[in-house]
Amino acid sequence: STVLVLNGPNLGRLGSREPDVYGAANLDDLRAVLVASARDGVNIDLRQTDDEAELIHWLYQAVDERMPVILNPAAFTHYSYALRDAAALVTKAGLPLIEVHISNPHARETFRHTSVVSAIATGVIAGLGFDSYRLALDFVTQP
Ligand code: DQA
Repeated sequence: STVLVLNGPNLGRLGSREPDVYGAANLDDLRAVLVASARDGVNIDLRQTDDEAELIHWLYQAVDERMPVILNPAAFTHYSYALRDAAALVTKAGLPLIEVHISNPHARETFRHTSVVSAIATGVIAGLGFDSYRLALDFVTQP
């Protein structure tokens, strides 16, 4: 089985972007962490885009191919109703979608305290660095 691990805008700069907030590791490091911790037979398909439309189309693909989703919507978290509606298609289809964040948005600026995605997500894990993804992966692939 394949798990889609989708990352939104500016996360391609992970490692050099605000390392005090997001750490010094990049997306390749994240992929390596997830591959190393994945259960046998679980394939990690990790992607990143700065493009809202592309992210939405990947969520359609999750529905069509029945793949669980781990989604870090990045700044889209806070205002993209289009992304929320596409993410809702995933959970309405009976597939898990876990919203993850590296930082804890609730401990940061006020505009980050709102997520338009959380209400339609299966669950939310935030503030644990890459462990947010690792724990989400464990959940969506539990036997
Ligand atoms: C983030 C938190 C968001 O507020 C921010 O816009 C990001 C990353 C996180 O993983 O901590 O780009 O989703």
